[in-house]
Amino acid sequence: MKKRELGHSGIEVPTLCFGGNVFGWTADEQRSFELLDALLESGLNFVDTADVYSHWAPGNHGGESETILGKWFKARGNRSKVILATKVGSPMGEGKKGLSKNYIRQAVEDSLKRLQTDYIDLYQSHRDDESTPQADTLGIYADLIKEGKIRAIGASNFTAERLQSALEVSRKHNLPRYETLQPEYNLYDRSGYESSLEATCVKNELGVIPYFSLASGFLSGKYRSAEEAASKPRAGMVKKYFNERGMRILESLDEVSRELNAKPAQVALAWLMAHPSITAPIASATTVEQLRELVGATRLELPHGAVEKLSQASAEVVAA
Ligand SMILES: NC(=O)c1ccc[n+]([C@@H]2O[C@H](COP(=O)([O-])OP(=O)(O)OC[C@H]3O[C@@H](n4cnc5c(N)ncnc54)[C@H](OP(=O)(O)O)[C@@H]3O)[C@@H](O)[C@H]2O)c1
Repeated sequence: MKKRELGHSGIEVPTLCFGGNVFGWTADEQRSFELLDALLESGLNFVDTADVYSHWAPGNHGGESETILGKWFKARGNRSKVILATKVGSPMGEGKKGLSKNYIRQAVEDSLKRLQTDYIDLYQSHRDDESTPQADTLGIYADLIKEGKIRAIGASNFTAERLQSALEVSRKHNLPRYETLQPEYNLYDRSGYESSLEATCVKNELGVIPYFSLASGFLSGKYRSAEEAASKPRAGMVKKYFNERGMRILESLDEVSRELNAKPAQVALAWLMAHPSITAPIASATTVEQLRELVGATRLELPHGAVEKLSQASAEVVAA
């Protein structure tokens, strides 16, 4: 299994990360255990979650995903085999949100408790918090690293300007720096990352672990119209993709998949993996079959012509 370093953290990960927002949402506890077992059996061991997952599911309050992971670590006694990424800062209700020193101190203890572990490999700021000085946030992360509670830090959903300024604060004050960025990036949603974040990550040698790598399942090609997706839990997320450009992307995925005897979801992940700036795309699955399909992407190398074909089909402005 190919491995890559998360920025300069010294932490090596496989080229695909499993997304944990399904735990306690579209995968119940038993299914989550099956998925996690199958992940390790397949040779992958990198899992991304967040304190807030999956609060949007009816009856949930946040913390469900970490709780299931914690039960699985305990049941299997395998915490040390997994590279565990989680996040802090998204609103959890009752004013629990943001990146202040006091809040992070409390939130990390809550995450460690739910996860039934004493350390987190990659602790990420889930979203920017402009009301907290960046030196304060990085200062508490420095304390947590010294205490052995977290190993490295990352950022998610930051603008290029705010990411760059955080990196400068780290340098100036001799504080730990964000080693990774977790942006939204996939064959359909390209401009947010490609316009300026990518250059910032490359310049600073950050690891990049994009989310929504499958555009919430759209890039698997299993839905061909919004109506087909309408009754699914992700209906609200995928409906924006059913337009001319979305259909053009699915056609090119179909074509490349046929040529390479692969599946569209694998090709969509392999397109991300073909970018030198990408360390490991994050994708989730709700069945072991889906998971096995996604793992196949780590063995799929796209020829240059296929990468070009997909990039052209998904270009946001098409030359006349
Ligand atoms: N930092 C952030 O703000 C942020 C935001 C969102 C997500 N994330 C992270 O990124 C991860 C990935 O995002 P995501 O899970 O929401 O979306 P995704 O990876 O783009 O889509 C995954 C979904 O697609 C479907 N799928 C997967 N493999 C398939 C296959 N082979 N064939 C058909 N359908 C397949 C499954 O859903 P169904 O079976 O239900 O169709 C699966 O749950 C999350 O789990 C989370 O860790 C981070």
